Amino acid sequence: MCGIVGYTGPREAYPIVLKGLKRLEYRGYDSSGVALLNAGLKVYKKKGKVADLEEHLIGKDLHSNTGIGHTRWATHGEPSDRNAHPHISPTGKLAMIHNGIIENYALIKKELISKGYSFSSDTDTEVLLFFIEDIQINNHCSLEEAVRIALKRVVGAYCILLIDQNDPETIIAARKGSPLVIGIGKGEHFLASDASPIIEYTKEVVYVNDYELAIVRPDELILKNLGNEKVTPYITKLDMELAAIEKGGYDHFMIKEIHEQPSTIQDCLRGRIDAQAGTITMAGVEQNIDKLTNAKRIIMVACGTSWHAGLVAEYIIEELCRIPVEVEYASEFRYRNPIIQEGDVIIAISQSGETADTIVALENAKEKGAFIFGVVNAVGSSIARLSHAGAYTHAGPEIGVASTKAFTGQLTVLTMVALKIAKAKETITNEKYLTLLQELEAVPEKVAVILQQAEQIKSIATLFDKAGDALFLGRGYNFPVALEGALKLKEISYIHAEGYPAAEMKHGPIALVTETLPVVFIATKDSYHEKIVSNMQEIKARKGIVISIITEGDAISPTLSNATFSIPAADEIIAPMLSVIPLQLLSYYVGIAKGFDVDKPRNLAKSVTVE
Ligand code: G6P
Repeated sequence: MCGIVGYTGPREAYPIVLKGLKRLEYRGYDSSGVALLNAGLKVYKKKGKVADLEEHLIGKDLHSNTGIGHTRWATHGEPSDRNAHPHISPTGKLAMIHNGIIENYALIKKELISKGYSFSSDTDTEVLLFFIEDIQINNHCSLEEAVRIALKRVVGAYCILLIDQNDPETIIAARKGSPLVIGIGKGEHFLASDASPIIEYTKEVVYVNDYELAIVRPDELILKNLGNEKVTPYITKLDMELAAIEKGGYDHFMIKEIHEQPSTIQDCLRGRIDAQAGTITMAGVEQNIDKLTNAKRIIMVACGTSWHAGLVAEYIIEELCRIPVEVEYASEFRYRNPIIQEGDVIIAISQSGETADTIVALENAKEKGAFIFGVVNAVGSSIARLSHAGAYTHAGPEIGVASTKAFTGQLTVLTMVALKIAKAKETITNEKYLTLLQELEAVPEKVAVILQQAEQIKSIATLFDKAGDALFLGRGYNFPVALEGALKLKEISYIHAEGYPAAEMKHGPIALVTETLPVVFIATKDSYHEKIVSNMQEIKARKGIVISIITEGDAISPTLSNATFSIPAADEIIAPMLSVIPLQLLSYYVGIAKGFDVDKPRNLAKSVTVE
């Protein structure tokens, strides 16, 4: 939530900051702004998307070699020009941008008001900035020192960038809970919420840690902790190509990312799985195999789509490894004093690796002694670093706000982890193990076959033209897929949709069935198939619109459906990786038909760094 960018060096800062904001717009898009230093401080901001800011700035003097920019997802105060960042300090000398939430801002604001300050926005950010300047003036100290003092009083999460007109080549940055990456160029530095604004200039980056403060100048990067001790920057090489963060000829990131899945799943399997040799190589699992096989319980902690991946994994791990699994919403888990016992393993699932609730849930569990295994997409992210061990999903940068390729990457990793544990525990027969390895290896090709028929989904999407609601029903491994299908449709087309276990439909949702209600069945051939066909009949009898995702060769389901989409046959454990693809396409095409911005759906943000 909220994207931040900064630059200091010999180049023009504005074009770099603007391009960076466009790359980070997935993090929030209700207003944006820039602050530039050049013979004084200039701040420009605008409600709306980054393109609105860009248009607003045509013809303005934007010359500057040091600048910061922000794209906002509103927390405190409505989206508006005045609540947009950067904010300016009372003297007009400092500008600051912020990603996160200052929880005790109201108390600090009260103190500042009693000192005579008045505020021009409703934001917590402006309060922190005023507080910093107040400390600087009263303590006669450097800005760096004032930031340090202020942050010691702050409760909450932040990544802040500050510039000072009296020090025009310096950016001061600090983080706790919200991400910050610093790119190291030759005589220049780039700062951003993730590496995407940096990648085209340098591959050398430093991921700033919590409670660290960075003093960034063109030819100098000083990292310190809040105790004013220097910290050695740990330089990492980015393993990401520019093409991965561009649309590459597609109309939207979402459809590009859906179509990337044959290769992202392949990337996830590559170097790990060898069906012929019967091996899966995953260092994070191998090095901790005792902890994983002896786990008394596995707790999946995640949010959103990643939580759905956890639900699929629950079915797989319980079936293959015979270990009890619980799947927890991170936001609930962190607040309810969960029972964590010795021998519990937490599997944290996150695309961004920066979701605030998941991070805190893990910190709490870690403190209580749990072993944390991270299944993360964003390399070097907070959750990846917080985990004791893990496995990356290798799906590449996911920019469309609705998660697609990250989900199939998560399923791929979690299935491999389950297979490795099951093999080590001997809870799987060798035959089943080898079959599943082969099935996994075949997934990229099967996904490619599904995507070749993507056009068929366009006509299925027309069945949603008049729909205000929709139901998604599945059983067993496909039940979480039904939840994911409903979530995707909600996010992208704003149609109210619910996912249900197909049998549970009789306990309520069936009351909604009318001639205009689309009911999507995920009805691939599995051990529950006959049962779900009966459920289809029940909807058909009540004149609902039946749409079914079926296995090739199923002759019965089409007779009960208004529309069907066939996918290649697969073992039921593997099926979710295939059956979710038509549902991703469906939400995309329904959203497009309605004329919505599918990459930046209303009110959503990709990386939820506030709780
Ligand atoms: C947001 C995104 C979802 C994502 C969820 C969890 O809601 O829009 O696509 O599934 O956060 O994010 P994470 O990065 O932890 O997987």
